[in-house]
Amino acid sequence: MKPSGEDREAQAGDPWEECFEAAVQLALRAGQIVRKALSEEKRVSTKTSAADLVTETDQVVEDLILSELHQRFPSHRFIAEEAVAAGAKCVLTASPTWIVDPIDGTCNFVHRFPTVAVSIGFAVDQELEFGVIHDCTEERLYTGRRGRGAFCNGQRLHVSTETELSRALVLTEIGPRRDPATLKLFLSNMERLLRARAHGVRVIGSSTLALCHLASGAADAYYQFGLHCWDLAAATVIIREAGGVVMDTSGGPLDLMSCRVVAAGTREVAMLVAQALQTINYGRDDERSHWTHVLITCSLDFFPECKSQGACVLQPEVDVSAVCPPPLMPLLK
Ligand code: IPD
Repeated sequence: MKPSGEDREAQAGDPWEECFEAAVQLALRAGQIVRKALSEEKRVSTKTSAADLVTETDQVVEDLILSELHQRFPSHRFIAEEAVAAGAKCVLTASPTWIVDPIDGTCNFVHRFPTVAVSIGFAVDQELEFGVIHDCTEERLYTGRRGRGAFCNGQRLHVSTETELSRALVLTEIGPRRDPATLKLFLSNMERLLRARAHGVRVIGSSTLALCHLASGAADAYYQFGLHCWDLAAATVIIREAGGVVMDTSGGPLDLMSCRVVAAGTREVAMLVAQALQTINYGRDDERSHWTHVLITCSLDFFPECKSQGACVLQPEVDVSAVCPPPLMPLLK
């Protein structure tokens, strides 16, 4: 019997070479689709909040990536943003697993703000093996492979060596929630970093590309509450391979499913950022209670009359599907 692609690779030196090459090709193809669609009319829907957007292009690109990968690597597992939003499980097992964000920066994409990326990460035994991120408009391809360095269009990446927060440029992203308590904590975290005399705090609308800027040494630190494993997986390998650190906001080891992260060029700056932050609890990607919480938050946001009562009794004529992701609908009944 002729060995399959998977078997051939397992026998060779780098068992994941073929997977890496497939990720590069797909990220480039997907990037072309996103770049073309950027200037076209879009059908936009909301997911967990009014600021958490999705378009038909997110779905087209995700379908393309998942179907091609599934055909080539049928035994592999997948975690992908739109599939999870539609109810798929978000659990990282020991199996080879692809972690895909078809368009990172969907809100930018909707507004034609040209900071959007395709992100493909790959993990085996719950360890991240490689990451590929395509900056669709700048045509930059960022790659990182465990033990083999990080590159942008073939140029080796190195993080900044800054050790002082008072000389750091810090990046963050807002996350999907807009309820007053979350916004207060978000703004107060920014204030804390500015009071610690960080040179600046930037929000560019794509967590993966912000993390790529960190990997390139164009910024010194990144933190966020409310990002997902598909925002983080590929970028984590790229930053680590560029010499940087990626950790939990507590200062402990990164937990890919915890929806929170601090990354920096140096451990010193990462720890200083972590110490300055107050936690915003977004739950976990791999726990359903997280989605229940999102449901409650988004419902209360959208139906102020329920807010004062701390509960949400929706009238039959209310179109809940406009504000809540489909898998959460049964919880409302
Ligand atoms: C989002 C973006 C955004 C960040 C969110 C992410 P998406 O990804 O990276 O900047 O604030 O936390 O989920 O929804 O555009 O793929």
